[in-house]
Amino acid sequence: MRTHYCGDLRSTHLGQTATLYGWVDRRRDHGGVIFIDLRDSRGTAQIVCNPDQTPQSYPVAEALRNEYVIKVTGQVSARPAESLNPKIPTGEVEIYADEIELLNAVHQQLPFVVSSQEAEQVREEVRLKYRYLDLRRERLSRNLQLRHRVVKAIRSFLEDQENFIEIETPILTRSTPEGARDYLVPSRVNPGEWFALPQSPQLFKQLLMVSGFDRYYQIARCFRDEDLRADRQPEFTQLDMEMSFLNQEEILDLNERLVAHIFAQVKGAEPPRPFPRLTYAEAMNRYGTDRPDARFGLELADVSQLVKNIGFKVFSGAVQSGGSVKAITVPGGNDRISNVRIKPGGDLFKEITDAGGKGLAYIRVRDNQEIDTIGAIKDSLTAEQVAELLELTGAQPGDLILFGAGETEIVHKSLARLRLVLGEQLGLIDTEQVNLLWITEFPMFEWNAEEKRLEALHHPFTAPYPEDLADLKTARAQAYDLVYNGLEIGGGSLRIHQRDVQNQVFATIGLSPEDAQSKFGFLLEAFDYGAPPHGGIAYGLDRLTMLLAGEDSIRDVIAFPKTQQARCLLTEAPAGVEPAQLKELQVTSTFKPKV
Ligand code: AMO
Repeated sequence: MRTHYCGDLRSTHLGQTATLYGWVDRRRDHGGVIFIDLRDSRGTAQIVCNPDQTPQSYPVAEALRNEYVIKVTGQVSARPAESLNPKIPTGEVEIYADEIELLNAVHQQLPFVVSSQEAEQVREEVRLKYRYLDLRRERLSRNLQLRHRVVKAIRSFLEDQENFIEIETPILTRSTPEGARDYLVPSRVNPGEWFALPQSPQLFKQLLMVSGFDRYYQIARCFRDEDLRADRQPEFTQLDMEMSFLNQEEILDLNERLVAHIFAQVKGAEPPRPFPRLTYAEAMNRYGTDRPDARFGLELADVSQLVKNIGFKVFSGAVQSGGSVKAITVPGGNDRISNVRIKPGGDLFKEITDAGGKGLAYIRVRDNQEIDTIGAIKDSLTAEQVAELLELTGAQPGDLILFGAGETEIVHKSLARLRLVLGEQLGLIDTEQVNLLWITEFPMFEWNAEEKRLEALHHPFTAPYPEDLADLKTARAQAYDLVYNGLEIGGGSLRIHQRDVQNQVFATIGLSPEDAQSKFGFLLEAFDYGAPPHGGIAYGLDRLTMLLAGEDSIRDVIAFPKTQQARCLLTEAPAGVEPAQLKELQVTSTFKPKV
């Protein structure tokens, strides 16, 4: 029987006989003395064998190689002064192995050395193919343990302190309206019909409110067939919540206490409350995005009115045709950023064009309100306008002002991107800082230029502010997102619980009553049977854990993630199936492989 975990051994265990199980992390042969770092799920411990003191185990130890699985029994001893290792928690002790039993060897060449720092450099494809080996590594093992602690903190807060109960909702269901493509599953017993995997439990959690479970949560798996990035997976996990009879303030307060509890449990320190709030309009104006990283400045200044009528047509034309001109001021930018970088071909110029912008105008501020820029800009500004520009942007001598001009949406998108790159490159981001903020008062709808119609910014069940009901098209939504260091980690809203308002929203997004009935009839009907006022939120559990773990990719906090091509390299899913299976499902593929 195991008596201790390797990683738990301390000098308080001195003199005890320990039986340990684990993997050979490393074996070092010091001419007559063999040291083994034995690893289990809690850490590593040093095992010692030599022919004099441990004659039985020494020959076994000689044959051990990396990743062999062994059982070790021996006495916990103090390390001699010269081999104390303050870098690891077990660094004061070692175990003289009276007995080593080989439980299993490694029968093939390992694709990488698990214990080596170099494993970090191994291509991710290799690590994903041998994910079970990758997960033996300390970093990933630590991440998954942290994830577990996050979930545990969530459960204890919601269940023990706030009376929530967890309820599971179906995985085989109808399409849910979160705006991504669905993963579809054919029904064998109902040929020609399909289930969709849930993009979120949205409709079911609202129905649970109608059922009277007034505080629901779920650690819910969600599926979205969308383009993948470092913070997106085709299947991911949400902490999904829904509550009845609470207003927005009460929901935000409860959620701040939840997030603070998670931080306290896993980080040992709580972020200050209340979390700052920005309205959507304010966030867009100041940062050009609804998920600003507010750990640093470089805020946008709106100079549209100032340049509306100047001779430089790139600026005045943009404003006159309904767009904007906005500026970012880089303190000390004259010395830190060269013209090569902001002109066509330069890396900062490219950030703008990659986001759809056309160019990156600039002004370098010199002493005595002198400016340096291209002639066309310089000649079109009077001394008063220069003074006003410096006032609006707060620019000082030595600063560089960068401008985006054009359609407001593109100006925002491109400058937001430039701002992030500059913040990182200029070292303005304090990576230790935790910046949590709510974005509120989202617009209900945004224009989908491709489909030439309004669509719901959140989802069509989000309630408008009652005072905005008169003109639904421009109404603000009672919706909120939680942003953590510039990443959206959660979002939710108060919901519509009255059928007539729901119908108006469907009409605004161009959903005919017939389509609304066929897609969401069950929900609309439920609203007729006594639906309480309710609202909720969902957090991306993977994203939250990624940030708490200090990782850059959610793949590093998911045990078996998929690649950017939505593949599992370990199981090689997705894969072909037997023709007989397809026949049974009455499904054929139209795909023709290229020859
Ligand atoms: P939303 O679509 O904003 O809201 O999703 C909630 C949170 O889930 C995370 N998330 C993802 N994480 C990883 N990979 C993905 N592909 C992915 N997509 C989303 C984000 C996001 O903030 N039903 C609503 C919630 C509600 O209104 O209660 C919903 O799903 O962190």
